[in-house]
Amino acid sequence: PRLAVIVVAAGSGTRLNGGAPKAFVGLDEHTILRHSLSGVFAAPRAQVVVVVPSGFEGAALTDAHAVAGDRRDLVSVVSGGATRQSSVAAGLAALRADVDTVLVHDAARALTPPAVFERVVAALDAGADAVIPAVPVVDTIKRVDAEGAIVAAVDRSELAAAQTPQGFRRGILEEALRSADADHTDDAALVAAAGHPVITVAGDAASFKITTGPDLDRARALLADAAP
Ligand code: C5P
Repeated sequence: PRLAVIVVAAGSGTRLNGGAPKAFVGLDEHTILRHSLSGVFAAPRAQVVVVVPSGFEGAALTDAHAVAGDRRDLVSVVSGGATRQSSVAAGLAALRADVDTVLVHDAARALTPPAVFERVVAALDAGADAVIPAVPVVDTIKRVDAEGAIVAAVDRSELAAAQTPQGFRRGILEEALRSADADHTDDAALVAAAGHPVITVAGDAASFKITTGPDLDRARALLADAAP
């Protein structure tokens, strides 16, 4: 396929404290990773590279095979790095030669609807070089100093919260990673720092990133409500 999805799942999950690396914490009878991968395989046909903490490759492959259906042969698992950016680089190194378009998706956004993948892919198909899903910011945001004093008000209407999957022409993402001189918390920041315009499409509230205990509770409650 010409499309690949790199699912970054190599975070330690220290803020979640779930007793395992975050992607391997259970939501119901299944892990966060398995739920994320269900969304990935519901999206357009793609090579899927799962990036996990060293030692979790076998567990990740089991989860991936359980939801891959007839796409089993398109799945590979690699071990990640100390930062998200280095985990993305590890995933890129595993891409097939024919791939020209890459989505990078946080495993922690376990409940991302397939429609979000489709919007990102559609924007790439329409010619965008870099595209991310984003949602309006609901909180009023302040810029604060090291002591916590407010330095400036930030106009909420100018802000958007970045989500994943973030989509790129392969060459642009690879070049941005090679030339990176700092660590970025998402790929859009990396690609923007390399001088490329990044556009947004509509994200989805369900794509929230499971980061803290209350996020985990929310994801579990949503799944329990959705169960028949
Ligand atoms: O830490 P944060 O919540 O921003 O991580 C976002 C995603 O990046 C998670 O899915 C996490 O597993 C992944 N990650 C990674 N390698 C790291 C750190 C985070 O794959 N070293």
